[in-house]
Amino acid sequence: MSPTPTAAPAIELIGIDKKFGAVHANKNINLTVAKGSIHGIIGENGAGKSTLMSILYGFYHADAGSIRINGQNTVIQDSQAAISAGIGMVHQHFMLVENFSVLENVILGVEGGALLGRGVSDARSALKRLEADYGLEVDPDAIIEELPVGLQQRVEILKALYRGAEILILDEPTGVLTPAEADHLFKILGVLRDQGKTIVLITHKLREIMAITDTVSVMRRGEMVATRRTTETTVEELAELMVGRRVLLRVEKGPAAPSDVVLSVRNLTVKDGRGVTMVDNVSFDVRAGEVVGIAGVAGNGQSELLEAITGIRKPASGEILIHGKPVTGFDSARLRALGLGHIPEDRHHMGLVLGFEESENSVLGYHRDSRYGRGPLLDLDACREDAKAKIEKYDIRPPNCRLKTANFSGGNQQKIVVAREIERDPALLVVGQPTRGVDIGAIEFIHRRLIAMRDAGKAVLLVSVELDEIRSLSDRILVMFAGRVVGEKTPDTGEQTLGLMMAGIAA
Ligand SMILES: Nc1ncnc2c1ncn2[C@@H]1O[C@H](COP(=O)(O)OP(=O)(O)O)[C@@H](O)[C@H]1O
Ligand SMILES: [Mg+2]
Repeated sequence: MSPTPTAAPAIELIGIDKKFGAVHANKNINLTVAKGSIHGIIGENGAGKSTLMSILYGFYHADAGSIRINGQNTVIQDSQAAISAGIGMVHQHFMLVENFSVLENVILGVEGGALLGRGVSDARSALKRLEADYGLEVDPDAIIEELPVGLQQRVEILKALYRGAEILILDEPTGVLTPAEADHLFKILGVLRDQGKTIVLITHKLREIMAITDTVSVMRRGEMVATRRTTETTVEELAELMVGRRVLLRVEKGPAAPSDVVLSVRNLTVKDGRGVTMVDNVSFDVRAGEVVGIAGVAGNGQSELLEAITGIRKPASGEILIHGKPVTGFDSARLRALGLGHIPEDRHHMGLVLGFEESENSVLGYHRDSRYGRGPLLDLDACREDAKAKIEKYDIRPPNCRLKTANFSGGNQQKIVVAREIERDPALLVVGQPTRGVDIGAIEFIHRRLIAMRDAGKAVLLVSVELDEIRSLSDRILVMFAGRVVGEKTPDTGEQTLGLMMAGIAA
């Protein structure tokens, strides 16, 4: 093979424009990605990143613009054309056949990739080579649904490489991975790049961009706002470009002024559906004017503790008091009436009804309030007026209270829940994983609202698996391990110390 006289860029997108009805998802986008580089595309939810890459992969058609691959004008009308042009994509949601083996998934749909005879043994050796070349070990005979997500993702990558991909697009690949799996993925991407592949990594995590990309482009509200060499930018600059204003990556707060006890949990034991003890004789208080954070690795009883406190799960024994009044076993509606606000961990299952319009979710759980209805009927006009005010105050986008909640991005859905619970002005706010799946602009906003609640004299109980979040918001930290509170620490306690407690190693 003779060397290319001028190294053409692997990818050139020229004037790409795309509308979905009224939504202008990509506005005249230009992007150049050098061969053999890792290029990051960063932007908040809804910025247009997936749309742009779906156009490159032939999944959507641009309304205008053109694409060059290795300097050649290339029309990509479908993903088959993208594959022929050497482009592979690892989607946000895997596209694997769950009950097929790794090998079957890899060769599925490849031209001439017969599932029988020589085709399979050839594919098996090709797969072995790919695994060896790129450090992508995975058992070819394992059934997909039995593999952890990190390995399923590896199969997606193998599948693309097997099809001859020279350009690999990964859309938010670490959203489903543990930190260790993510680090492993980054090593693999580094190897692929060093062997000449071109990688486009979509993410909204600044840390990932800084860790592995060579260059980075920032998208904001459908526009490409900047491209930088990664070594020549900072997380602060990228955050500002993403959000369009300066973003505080740290939470600013003064000292707490705790007063009366609002929530008391006494010797609480909670069992799960199978009768397994998940919360084991836990006691603590939360006072007005403080944030008490519960740190812990997911699955150590935090969810069941929150469920018991918020009336979703009946405790096996022990007592819960609000303002000194026993409320053990009360249902959510009664607890709300006593001043409990709840931002649930899982907004899709407990916080929102996605098929309802935004204005309805904006009053969900409080719809029997006199201000939203007359008798049994919901006053839709009152709900919508109320929703509009919250949309404005919480900068919920798009600002349309008639839109189905399913059509809002994750960060905006979370803001709908946060607005609903905070605007009720509860005396006690119980918060689970408030920023899971939320982008940085919204994280900053939600953190500020929580601190403002504290400063207004509310009691805030925060559960999060993000240790940074616990440390920056809490005034006191309780660490949970195996259903027990194994210690209480101040927020200036080092990450290592807390980490050891979370692992059950030190008290
Ligand atoms: N198939 C679609 N139909 C209608 N609107 C869409 C569709 N796909 C994306 N959008 C809208 O286009 C905008 C950009 O979305 P997307 O490209 O998914 O953003 P990102 O990947 O940066 O989060 C959003 O407002 C989104 O709601
Ligand atoms: Mg996306």
